[in-house]
Amino acid sequence: MPDIRLDGLTRRFGAATAVDDVSMVFAEGTVTCLLGPSGCGKTTLMRMIAGLETPTAGRIRFGDRDVTRLSARQRGVAMVFQYPVMYRTLTVAENIELPLARDRGLSAAERRARVDEVLNVLDLSAQRGLRIGDLDMGARQKVAVGRAIARRCDVVLFDEPTTNVEVHAKLQLIRAFKEFRRRVRQTIVYVTHDQTEAMTLADQIALMQAGVLSQCAAPRVLYDQPDSEFGGWFLGSPGMNFLDPLGEDGGRVRFAGIAGAVAAPSGGTAGLRAGIRPEYVRVFAQAGAGRVAGRVTGDCITIGGQHLLTLSVDGAELKAKVPPDGGMAAGSAAYVECPAERVMLFCDGLRVATPSVDQAGAR
Ligand SMILES: Nc1ncnc2c1ncn2[C@@H]1O[C@H](COP(=O)(O)OP(=O)(O)OP(=O)(O)O)[C@@H](O)[C@H]1O
Ligand SMILES: [Mg+2]
Repeated sequence: MPDIRLDGLTRRFGAATAVDDVSMVFAEGTVTCLLGPSGCGKTTLMRMIAGLETPTAGRIRFGDRDVTRLSARQRGVAMVFQYPVMYRTLTVAENIELPLARDRGLSAAERRARVDEVLNVLDLSAQRGLRIGDLDMGARQKVAVGRAIARRCDVVLFDEPTTNVEVHAKLQLIRAFKEFRRRVRQTIVYVTHDQTEAMTLADQIALMQAGVLSQCAAPRVLYDQPDSEFGGWFLGSPGMNFLDPLGEDGGRVRFAGIAGAVAAPSGGTAGLRAGIRPEYVRVFAQAGAGRVAGRVTGDCITIGGQHLLTLSVDGAELKAKVPPDGGMAAGSAAYVECPAERVMLFCDGLRVATPSVDQAGAR
């Protein structure tokens, strides 16, 4: 089974650059999610890996094999599209078996065994005899996934396979997907703009922004150590808070909402911002060491059952996720603590070395 290596991969459409000089590795047998906002180049990048789009520049290798100029068929990858093409008049089982018929190495019994396994994992056994035209979107999408995984290609590409599926079917699909993955090792590239899906499925996430690979890392690393303000903002719900400097004194910078001062990187405070995720901001009713006085300006309950507070501190807006029983509501006075170990520093949108924050007194 090969890994997939991209080297300077670029695709331009006229004056627009859809994918811009992307170099990365999809390790064999792992799941990589391509994540990013609409139009950032996810589909274009994946279509180049599939052989459905010709790169303007750069190379694609599967293991030692340079496949840049090979057709989709020669590359032998399976792909599931957002809007799958299927044979509406054939049954569920026939649709899954059809691509297997091309594989001359498989006996009829082996083909049937593969189909049965896929139907079982996808919880589609009861519908095996139904025609595609009679299924809802969720079931159709499961069949599309089944068709791709039944072939057991070394490389399988998914382009937002759960986008048009309601939430229950989506969860089922993700569960089935993980179960199948446990059974068969394949190198999988999975495009999504849904961060929760990416965090659940991926061994590594490739975060894209405007055609450029912003960061490629394990989900937890991407979340806890974003390389850029974009990564901090895009991941998380809501994303990271960014705080502007209030002023500099003797090489130490003070930020809105942070009690301590931060060692200024060389170059002063220009372009400097501190970042902290809402779940790491602590909110108290009383003043205390390391806390900054502010006010709650808004509150709501999140889907996860936590309380999302909007606070005004030092003239800046700050979001905090706190347990719902903290007694805080819009209008309350509040004292905010941003723990030093959770504060990150960014300069012109890129993270700089972990800052050292003085734990100065309360403000
Ligand atoms: N065939 C094409 N001709 C011209 N421009 C294109 C073509 N395909 C894609 N683009 C442009 O390239 C950019 C990247 O598109 P792409 O479809 O790869 O993004 P995406 O990340 O998959 O977006 P989405 O989340 O909406 O599916 C967009 O600006 C898009 O308009
Ligand atoms: Mg797309």
